[in-house]
Amino acid sequence: METHEISNRFLKHFEQRGHTRVPSASLILDDPNLLFVNAGMVQFKPYFLGEVPPPYPRATSIQKCVRTGDIDEVGKTTRHNTFFQMAGNFSFGDYFKEGAIEHAWDLLTKSQADGGFGFDPARLWATVYEDDAETAGLWRKVTGIPAERIQYRGAEDNYWDMGVPGPGGPCSEIYFDRGPEYGREGGPAVDEDRYLEIWNLVFMQELRGDVSPKKGGPVLGELPKKNIDTGMGVERVAYLLQGVENVYETDLVRPVIAKAEEFSGHKYGRDHTDDVRFRVIADHARSGVMLIGDGVTPGNEARGYVLRRLLRRIVRSMRLLGVHEPVLPEFATVVRDAMAPSYPDIARDFDRISDVMRAEEEAFLATLTSGSRIFDLAAEETKSSGGDILAGDKAFQLHDTYGFPIDLTLEMAAEQGLQVDEDGFRTLMEEQRQRAKADAASRKSGHGDLSVYRQVLEQHGETQFLGYTDLQATAKVIGLLADGRPVRSVAEGGKAELVLDRTPFYAESGGQVADTGVLVGDGVELKVHDVQKIVPGLFVHRVEVLSGEVGVGTELTGSVDAHRRAAIARSHSATHLVHAAVRGAYGRRAAQAGSLNSPGRMRFDFTTAGAVSPDVLTEVEEEVNDYLQTDVEVQTYVTTKDKALELGAIALFGEKYGNDVRVVDMGEYSRELCGGTHVDRIGQLGLVKLVGDASIGSGVHRVEALVGQDALRYVRKEQLLVSQLASTLKVPTDQLPSRIDDVLGRLRNAEKEIERLKTQQVLGSAGSLAERAQDVGGVALVAEKLADGVDSGGVRALATEVRNRLGSRPGVVALFAPQGEKLSFVVATTAAARDKGFAAGKLVPSFAESIGGRGGGKPDMAQGGGTNPGGIDQAIAALRTAIAAR
Ligand code: ALA
Repeated sequence: METHEISNRFLKHFEQRGHTRVPSASLILDDPNLLFVNAGMVQFKPYFLGEVPPPYPRATSIQKCVRTGDIDEVGKTTRHNTFFQMAGNFSFGDYFKEGAIEHAWDLLTKSQADGGFGFDPARLWATVYEDDAETAGLWRKVTGIPAERIQYRGAEDNYWDMGVPGPGGPCSEIYFDRGPEYGREGGPAVDEDRYLEIWNLVFMQELRGDVSPKKGGPVLGELPKKNIDTGMGVERVAYLLQGVENVYETDLVRPVIAKAEEFSGHKYGRDHTDDVRFRVIADHARSGVMLIGDGVTPGNEARGYVLRRLLRRIVRSMRLLGVHEPVLPEFATVVRDAMAPSYPDIARDFDRISDVMRAEEEAFLATLTSGSRIFDLAAEETKSSGGDILAGDKAFQLHDTYGFPIDLTLEMAAEQGLQVDEDGFRTLMEEQRQRAKADAASRKSGHGDLSVYRQVLEQHGETQFLGYTDLQATAKVIGLLADGRPVRSVAEGGKAELVLDRTPFYAESGGQVADTGVLVGDGVELKVHDVQKIVPGLFVHRVEVLSGEVGVGTELTGSVDAHRRAAIARSHSATHLVHAAVRGAYGRRAAQAGSLNSPGRMRFDFTTAGAVSPDVLTEVEEEVNDYLQTDVEVQTYVTTKDKALELGAIALFGEKYGNDVRVVDMGEYSRELCGGTHVDRIGQLGLVKLVGDASIGSGVHRVEALVGQDALRYVRKEQLLVSQLASTLKVPTDQLPSRIDDVLGRLRNAEKEIERLKTQQVLGSAGSLAERAQDVGGVALVAEKLADGVDSGGVRALATEVRNRLGSRPGVVALFAPQGEKLSFVVATTAAARDKGFAAGKLVPSFAESIGGRGGGKPDMAQGGGTNPGGIDQAIAALRTAIAAR
């Protein structure tokens, strides 16, 4: 049975049983605690917590999930995918344990002809939590499963939560027995490879705190209702029903392996080590495509870093299979063809996805090239010092600076007959990890403990935002924190974080910076520096008490700095217009990858393949300013997500919980989902001036623009600069370029001429230097300190000239040129001297120490530098001694 069919049957089964079909949420749902959505229940969390009334009592979904905690297990076991699909059914205070068991059992065991999965009931096992005899009894009653196939397991296995404070509950899992050839008898408690978990039924009924009950932490309380959250692993069911050996060989993943076989000429299924590589490639390629599809771009932090790591592991695995050419876009195509039937967006956005992959691969291949040079140097050094172990700090540097995975270093070292000090490497890695941890901990304490904010949210609900219409409003302090801890009051001069029941201040989000302003009450005045939604829905104002004292319950009137807000609104509206124009120029593949809207200035990042031509940016600027003249009214309205997408609204980032979204329209030209504040009519922007664009890596481009008066000031400043240049160079402005070319040309010629004269002058001294040659043991030695400032090219030319003048005599020329704090030197030998065994390169060590220098070269000429010009006389003496000693 195909994977898509498994998903369809699941949804249909639950729809027939009164569940509302809900589409998968984005992988990057806006939850500060989660890097990626990792379970079907994530988008329903507010319903479980009772924060929002559920719009339906029952729901079903196939949720895209990413879990990268076990990334090192991928390919080695039969069941670890970094991307997978979780099929789930959910009850929000509706049916409970019995219903969940009945629904699941029915679908699993119903014949395939009747729309089920047709599993043999005799091969299914169930587990229940610790002493949950009630559930065990229900299993027996509903399914008739014998008692010996129901196992009790502890919290570690049979308690489920999101891994962070929030909803949780005991769970009951369903396992399939793959048969004796896959492991030991005795059920899932004995062997989780033979007995494969396929479905988890969670009895979501309580709230956990900082420590999970899995680890012995306490339960903080009951949820308002008893709920059901289940998750069936679609890939796992697929591999069982398709009769293959693991999750990498199912219909949706195996095609990538086939592509990798084609590229590499290696065959899957022949060699265990190769097979692991094939599976890593197949798994990661799919995860990469799905993540980029949802708007993640490769980077060095958080989500971007996970994506980068996945993509680099593919490239790396391909190299180990002997392929050095770019491969990612080809793999992306295979993934698209497999996944698009369930995820049409992947096909729609494919150009963009493929661009991001290509750019990241190019960047990594370049890294590999430069890192390889560093590696070669390190290997050479190791060998020339007689060692055969590459130092741990070298391996660490390769990893840290050049992004070289340690296994790459190991492999390249092995090719050169070297080993690597892996222990040393790991010690350095560990030290770095500790540093990072300490750093993260100190940052976190700066943010306070999130549970405090959550409590305020639970008690008072979300902050009401009034700032779309009002820049001034009266509100009450409902939460007050200092240094991350709740306090009753804060006095004059103190700093605090303050939560209001309602506020006109915009909190930073969607690229728009926070409002600033003042809060004034009876005898108290506060300055608002920043506003953040530290937990979703809760506006936290960072304030300084200018006078008086503020406490919980104080009434305050907030006034937003209106002038600043207007400038921010202009920037934000300009960003939408620039976005629309960029899309007009590049099509859907140019996706927004981030933005910043600050007063008078906007920044917009987008992905594209290749370079962005200046012409296109000029057109974008032209088009945007042209459109400003229509002065259309900016319209905002709230609608459903589906309706907004139907209207063609651009949406990619920060999908919010719930189904209602806010849309911002600027005529027909621009329509985006956006929670920001905007101008009323676009004519208010006045002027939008692009001031620069740059590639910021991995196919991401950044354009910056100034808006309104700031744009005008910028243009004026440029104009002033040009007129100053024109007056300095005494030409009309339009002749500036040719005049500057002309001046620069003359300058270059003059410099060349100076260079030539200098060399001539230096070479002029060659004759007298040659005459000063001294006989040292049958060798004519010219060893001299030159005047300060002769550059190293000059020194070399002079040494060559002096050597020529020594003719057929055995001669050694050593010239030292002080250059301020440093010096450079050249040693040259005549053919006759070389015949006597004097090699220039070999003479360098005899004097190098005296001048704090190093250098080397061939037998006829060596050169180098030093840091101690004061030691030149000593160096000359040392050289003479060395020659005499031969
Ligand atoms: N939320 C449960 C899980 O992820 C079903 O296993």
